[in-house]
Amino acid sequence: MAINKHEIVEKNVGVLMVMICVAISFATLVEIVPLFFQKDLNEPVPGMKPLTALQLEGRDIYIREGCHVCHTQMIRPLRAETERYGHYSVAGESVWDHPFLWGSKRTGPDLARIGEKYSDDWQYVHLMNPRDVVPESNMPGFPWLAENKLDGELTAKKMEIFRNFGVPYTDADIQGGAASVKGKTEMEALIAYLQQLGTVMKQRR
Ligand code: HEC
Repeated sequence: MAINKHEIVEKNVGVLMVMICVAISFATLVEIVPLFFQKDLNEPVPGMKPLTALQLEGRDIYIREGCHVCHTQMIRPLRAETERYGHYSVAGESVWDHPFLWGSKRTGPDLARIGEKYSDDWQYVHLMNPRDVVPESNMPGFPWLAENKLDGELTAKKMEIFRNFGVPYTDADIQGGAASVKGKTEMEALIAYLQQLGTVMKQRR
C-alpha cells in the first residue's frame, strides 16, 4: 500500500501543530506586510496638522474621563453612517493617533467629525450638564473640568514622545508647549480637542 503522506501529518500531533503554525504565519504575513507599503494607509491626509499642545492635553482628558467608552471615532463606509456623520473615516486621519480612539461601543454618537458641528459655548454647556441642551441625554456631566487648571508640567514631554512616534512637532512647538497650556482649564483643552476632530476631511470636500 502506498504511503499517504498526508496521513503522516494527521496522525502526528506535533507535526500537525508545526504545520498549522506555518500556515497561519504565512497567511498573516500576506495580509499585513503589504499594508506597511501602502501610502494612503500610513501617511497623513494632505493638510493634516499635529494637535496643538492644548488639543493634545484635551485628548488626554478625553481618555482619562472615558469618553471613548461611550463614543467611537470611526465612521464606517456605510450609507447609514455617512448620511449621519459625514465622510467615512480614512486611515490617514489616524496615523498620528497613539493610541487610536476608534472605539467599538456607541452609547452616544460617533465623534470622528464632531469638530465645528457646534459652537464652543454649546460644547461647554453640554459638558457641564448635557440635559441643559439635550433633555433626553443620558450622558454624564463633567463640571469639574471647568475648575481644574492645567500646569503644563508634562506637556513638552508628551509632545516629545509623540515626536518619537513620528508626529512632526518642531523644537519650537515643544519648547512653547507648557506656556501655551499653563493656566487654561481642562474644559478649554477638551473643547479645543473636540473642535478639530475630523475637520481636515471637511476642508478637503
Ligand atoms: C455614559 C456614556 C457617555 C459618556 C461617558 C460620554 N458620553 Fe457624550 N454622549 C453620550 C450620549 C448618550 C450622547 C447623545 C445625547 C447627547 O447629545 O447628550 C452623547 C453626546 C455627545 C456629544 C454630542 C454629539 C452630537 O453629534 O450631537 C458630544 C460632543 C459628546 N457626547 C462628547 C463627550 C465627551 C467629550 C465625553 C467625555 C468627557 C463624553 N461625551 C462622555 C454618552 C456618553
